[in-house]
Amino acid sequence: MAQRRIIVTSALPYANGAIHIGHLVEYLQTDFWVRFQKMRGNNCVYVCADDTHGTPIMVRARKEGITPEELIARSHAEHSADFADFGVAFDNYYSTNSPENKAFCEDIYSKMLEQQVLSSKMMPQMYCEHDQMFLPDRFIKGTCPKCGAPDQYGDSCDHCGSTYSPTDLVEPHCAICGATPALRDSEHIYFELEPFRDFLSEWLPAHTPADIANKLREWFGEPLRGWDISRDAPYFGFGIPGRPGKFFYVWVDAPIGYMASLKNWCGKNGQKFEDWWQDAGTEIYHFIGKDIVRFHCLFWPSMLRCGGYRGPTQVFVHGFLTVNGEKMSKSKGTFISARTYLDHLDPAALRFYFACKLNGTTDDIDLNLDDFVQRVNSDLVGKITNLASRGAQMLHKSLGGQAGTMDDAGRALWRGALSRADAIAAAYEDRDFCKAMTLVRDIAEEANRYFDAAAPWSLVKTDPEAARRVLTSILNVFRALAIYLQPVLPAYAAKTASLFGEAAYTWADLPTAFENRPVGKYEYLATRIDPKAVEAMVAASATPPPAAPVATAPAAPAASGSASKEGAAGMTPAPRQPVAASAQSAGVVVSIDDFAKLDLRVAHVVAAEAVEGSDKLIRFSLDLGEGRLRQIFSGIRKAFAPESFIGKNVVVVANLAPRKMRFGVSEGMVLTAENPDGSLAAVLASDDAAPGAKIS
Ligand code: 2FM
Ligand code: ZN
Repeated sequence: MAQRRIIVTSALPYANGAIHIGHLVEYLQTDFWVRFQKMRGNNCVYVCADDTHGTPIMVRARKEGITPEELIARSHAEHSADFADFGVAFDNYYSTNSPENKAFCEDIYSKMLEQQVLSSKMMPQMYCEHDQMFLPDRFIKGTCPKCGAPDQYGDSCDHCGSTYSPTDLVEPHCAICGATPALRDSEHIYFELEPFRDFLSEWLPAHTPADIANKLREWFGEPLRGWDISRDAPYFGFGIPGRPGKFFYVWVDAPIGYMASLKNWCGKNGQKFEDWWQDAGTEIYHFIGKDIVRFHCLFWPSMLRCGGYRGPTQVFVHGFLTVNGEKMSKSKGTFISARTYLDHLDPAALRFYFACKLNGTTDDIDLNLDDFVQRVNSDLVGKITNLASRGAQMLHKSLGGQAGTMDDAGRALWRGALSRADAIAAAYEDRDFCKAMTLVRDIAEEANRYFDAAAPWSLVKTDPEAARRVLTSILNVFRALAIYLQPVLPAYAAKTASLFGEAAYTWADLPTAFENRPVGKYEYLATRIDPKAVEAMVAASATPPPAAPVATAPAAPAASGSASKEGAAGMTPAPRQPVAASAQSAGVVVSIDDFAKLDLRVAHVVAAEAVEGSDKLIRFSLDLGEGRLRQIFSGIRKAFAPESFIGKNVVVVANLAPRKMRFGVSEGMVLTAENPDGSLAAVLASDDAAPGAKIS
């Protein structure tokens, strides 16, 4: 078959949050597919990058007291390590904050100007005087206008699910500082989509999954609305040429980041960008979650078309991840970061499990943790790996580790395994990894039946050469299975190759029989998952109660497969992760040493007052018997009248690192109790406790 030239991308993760198992649904499946293409001998390049621009990143950096550049450098290092440890093998992992990206953005923008597909209009938007910035919807909080739930974001209510505009919120406030924002007019630049109507109508069904195309085409009944591509300073991003104070919206330069990463890869590998992206023979595939189809299937192809660049061959869209049938939840410990997973479990287990679940459709997939343990232990370890461990170890123990030839039944079994190659390859090509895994498991089951019927462990006593033929057959079948599994389990396949003294496998290695040669020493390929390790991972993921003394910024928007987006623009409502953690963080076990680290003290409340400019914060002046008063800010004003604390003894965490806030430094945390209904109660020490008394 002719070698194909293929560019593959996964959605670029935001640089302000950790990679979690929701993200991995996408990166792992892309990696399976890319590895498969490479095994088939295709010239395939997998590029990705951190998505570094936008308000959340700017605000997060500010909050941490670092520059956005420092924040994105740190994320880049963390993300790269997470991906490498999960075996996600990008050919290039770049950044959208790059010169290549800026140049492509400016180029495409200049074509938009030339083709007169831009318009501008004045837009009123919420502005925070205190922070001196326009607030994206996710940075405005208030009470839901429909159901009255407090503390909802400016675009939609987590409680009743309704969507609205931030101006509809009751008592809106800035999520950064708590101040009440006001509407302010500003000019915005729009990329008009109506000129691309005919192009998109044809493009969509040919390049996106049918359900997605149908859904998007529902919007074609009326004039297509233009897309607001500008944001006002302060903004971390690329300035719009000739428009001082205006920046490209992060979603403009994010997909362009695919091209920038490819261009950067080309530079490092002596290739020309034009020979790749622009060559009609090159295939381009984007893997994305269904929450970001509007960007990838309407705006992106139109931008490319306008800029004179080729569009993707296909946009592959997947669903979201649920854990134990529910949205990932911080309080339940199912919002699991890549790093926490790696601290407890083998990445191969998740790779295998996701492969068993993914079928190339936009359906959501569930990680049921019991099923995960069961599936890995029974299929990967019990059925597949056992063939190698029993086969190779028996051959070493009794037959000098030397493979012979296959017997007739064994050769038929092996040929049967090879006859499934095209079906397995087709399943991989279609991203029906679930089907590929089922075909592999079926072969393993047949091989186990043959193994058990031939009983080489007793045969070896009466007819050692017959036993050698059986073991040789089993090992040949196993070798084929490891090759089939290589896209999903590359480390496993590499160990198998070394067991057989072979180089890394390609698909073309399948039909080679392994006969009359020595087999290497068996080394562990996969071990059973101990359910206790899963429990420990969940416990480590359960967040402690927030009780933070500060008004928090919105949860960092997470990437595909999970969560909130800046500008939440998916056509399917993005499932949002609950941010509040329950006080009874299920199953968190704290050692006595951990507990001893907390310095809990009685503090006498000398003064308590509302903080001006914030409707959440109370400023406490507390006597801890230190000869000076401590100042602590606590975000509990909604629940308590500040005066109610004066003269009382509260309980504080005295050794919390001081935290610099907009209103001053907070030197500790005042404890409160969260009732089961979510309301707060004060935690008071008795009146006769001395200020500064240690609580133990
Ligand atoms: O949804 C997200 O997490 C975005 N950071 C994805 C960007 S994909 C592409 F357009 F770059
Ligand atoms: Zn503010």
